[in-house]
Amino acid sequence: HRHLLGIEHLSQSDITAILDLAEKYVDLNRQSAKHSDVLSGLTQINMFFENSTRTQASFEIAGKRLGADVMNMAMQASSIKKGETLIDTAMTLNAMHPDLLVVRHPHSGAVDLLAQKVNCAVLNAGDGRHEHPTQALLDALTIRRAKGRLHRLNIAICGDVAHSRVARSNLILLGKMENRIRLIGPPTLVPSQFVDFGAEIYDDMNEGLKDVDVVMMLRLQKERMDGGFIPSEREYYHRYGLDAAKLALAKPDAIVMHPGPMNRGVEIDGTLADDINRSVIQEQVEMGVAVRMAAMELLARNQRDAA
Ligand code: CP
Repeated sequence: HRHLLGIEHLSQSDITAILDLAEKYVDLNRQSAKHSDVLSGLTQINMFFENSTRTQASFEIAGKRLGADVMNMAMQASSIKKGETLIDTAMTLNAMHPDLLVVRHPHSGAVDLLAQKVNCAVLNAGDGRHEHPTQALLDALTIRRAKGRLHRLNIAICGDVAHSRVARSNLILLGKMENRIRLIGPPTLVPSQFVDFGAEIYDDMNEGLKDVDVVMMLRLQKERMDGGFIPSEREYYHRYGLDAAKLALAKPDAIVMHPGPMNRGVEIDGTLADDINRSVIQEQVEMGVAVRMAAMELLARNQRDAA
């Protein structure tokens, strides 16, 4: 592959290859000296047109640990504000000969469009409601390490599925790896067409959580609700917020995940999110750096082979 635009383009063996390579970087990242030179001499530009904490920080750290020259474009201060288009901005940066472009954009499909115009590898860091492939890969690595496998697991994805690129990428990845997926949430936030991905849909969380191995919580993405139905947070927490009582319906060793940013007391109880016996939220962040190192190494290798 030349780019990493979505999980939809990856095969089972592509996914396994990224996760296997990422394991090496989990070990490297736990050492005091964390440096490798596999991206030495290469230029990585991060273009984030939407807010980010985890994804932007981990892509920057990943590039630096691999020896790339990393530049974070301050999009708020860029000439986009003067009316320059996304493509003109990308072409301008392309003329500076970057090797890796990491792009987050609020519009679904914007990153694919940009990838068609530039000469370097493009990594999708989240486009609208479409895909967030490195998030699904880091979630997969977290699950594989916690459960010892990434197949034949019962996995619940709960909450605002409709607006979530994280849910969409996870559905595709976990489906490709032959897991059973349940989507849990109010019908307004879990579109029925997701059964096309092979998922089962539940609006009763107490039913949906029964005997699952993994519980993945999602934030209510009010910024994408376009003034439509926004649930009352209190009512929502009562019905769909994960707390110890609801988690007790899952398997006794079920893990709790959240891609972040989380809203404590809305979709998840804060004490449960911090419970290191059940929650793997911090491991997800740790795996994010390793997975992004692996993805960038593989794309740089493909670029070198194609040259
Ligand atoms: N999970 C995730 O994408 O977080 P950020 O929006 O902080 O990058």
